[in-house]
Amino acid sequence: MNFDAINWDSLERLRANFLGGVAGAKDYWQSETDLVDYDATFAQRIGWKWDYVLAELKQRGWSPTAGKLLDWGCGSGVAGRAFLDHFGVSTINELGLWDRSLLAMKFASMRARERFAGLNITTHDHDAVKGPSAPATILISHVLNELTPEQTEALADFAAEATSVLWVEPGTYEASLTLIAIRERLRERMNIIAPCTHGDRCGILEPGNERHWCHHFASPPPDIFTNADWSRFANELEIDLRDLPLSFLVMDKRPNTPPAEGATRVIGHPRLYKAHALMLGCDRCGVRERRLMKRHHPEVFKSLKKGWNDNLQTWRCKDDEIMEIKPLFQSP
Ligand SMILES: C[S@@+](CC[C@H](N)C(=O)[O-])C[C@H]1O[C@@H](n2cnc3c(N)ncnc32)[C@H](O)[C@@H]1O
Repeated sequence: MNFDAINWDSLERLRANFLGGVAGAKDYWQSETDLVDYDATFAQRIGWKWDYVLAELKQRGWSPTAGKLLDWGCGSGVAGRAFLDHFGVSTINELGLWDRSLLAMKFASMRARERFAGLNITTHDHDAVKGPSAPATILISHVLNELTPEQTEALADFAAEATSVLWVEPGTYEASLTLIAIRERLRERMNIIAPCTHGDRCGILEPGNERHWCHHFASPPPDIFTNADWSRFANELEIDLRDLPLSFLVMDKRPNTPPAEGATRVIGHPRLYKAHALMLGCDRCGVRERRLMKRHHPEVFKSLKKGWNDNLQTWRCKDDEIMEIKPLFQSP
């Protein structure tokens, strides 16, 4: 899309709504143009977060169960499209779109029809938090900020009726802690697939870990950094294009193979010093900062400096030091 046609004031208004925590108060989609502009900009960035999550699911060997896919709170529909781009349409017999905004559902449906000819696409026209009936897979993206705690709990319980739940939110402290609360609420009903390497109580909830939150960083496609439209977007809205923090949660009712001994997820960015790096690692024993010595692992240290983003690792540690480190999944 040509960014010359974008109404920057509308995007600014939408963004002020999202950041101000008032977006839940009433429907803010005022016209189809709002959705067109959102879809070309903010939604693309959300799509790159979905790409990160979906790539990890593929790495973990996860694939969707057959049946209906529901994009709850679909907005312009980027989550559903990203999912179908990654996993294809062959196992999906219906894409359901639900949003309190009729305008949003119509737009998302139009965009999905353009992309996935022949796919059965349905929208729902009633306004209730429970929304439509239980799907096989439910996608939830960037809605927490707009829901009351009661609506969030009702949504989590509704989501747990599906076989699989994929939930992506901004990587803020509040969103992460809410996703952790949802994880705890549903942990006995569903298996935890990601981002965790275990299904026990979340280690962030342990005393001493109050300052931490479970967040990760997606990478935008490199060509946006030399693209005039995206640099205009960055200037107009004062957004750092490199910054794509997310929190996410994937749960599934199907049996899940437990990850190997020592499986660890690195949370947030490693902190680099002259002779060592500190990494916040999460494994079934808890969430704990560990030290990686440059002199023992020069290659790993070098790749950390280059912005390494391989967050799933196998570690062998002695006290607080990482003695052995290797990727949990080898690249094909
Ligand atoms: C920030 S947008 C995110 C849209 C889309 N999921 C995405 O990731 O781009 C939040 C969406 O949630 C919808 N929404 C907010 N409260 C809702 C509710 N109670 N029921 C259904 N949809 C809701 C809004 O209309 C909006 O489309």
